[in-house]
Amino acid sequence: MYLTRLIYVSTLSAECDQQALDEILQISRVNNQKNHLTGLLSHNNRYFLQCIEGARAKVNEAYNRILSDPRHSRVVILQYQEITEREFGDWSMGEIPQCYLTALLNLQFSGSSEFLPYDLTGESAYRMLRQLKQKLPSE
Ligand SMILES: Cc1cc2nc3c(=O)[nH]c(=O)nc-3n(C[C@H](O)[C@H](O)[C@H](O)COP(=O)(O)O)c2cc1C
Repeated sequence: MYLTRLIYVSTLSAECDQQALDEILQISRVNNQKNHLTGLLSHNNRYFLQCIEGARAKVNEAYNRILSDPRHSRVVILQYQEITEREFGDWSMGEIPQCYLTALLNLQFSGSSEFLPYDLTGESAYRMLRQLKQKLPSE
């Protein structure tokens, strides 16, 4: 089954507090390990930016579950493509600490110093996540 990478952006719902975030990461890590999915989840208080990679069918199944999750809305796909190798294979779902989303990083990949992931191209989002992973310890 082809390896695929999906990157999407979404908006946290009002109910998505710290406890909800912890639960999302916990279930993601359990499910993703089972399904050989890997990736990263970055967010601030307003937006999520997530990358999921793995077998195409498994990526699609996870995305369909994620799409109907009430803890976020306005889900927009930034990139969906076949890949030859994983870029985030060290994490079943690595969480990017908010403090990594610096003004300098946002300016490198977008026209704003704020984290506005809806304004990223798919390629910018991918490159931003690739840069972020360099500071992240393996799981
Ligand atoms: C921003 C966000 C990211 C998520 N990421 C994943 C993920 O990577 N893998 C996963 O299995 N579930 C993820 N979830 C949780 C799913 O939406 C869903 O709650 C979970 O897969 C359990 O689905 P089920 O209740 O149908 O079994 C995420 C949810 C949100 C809001």
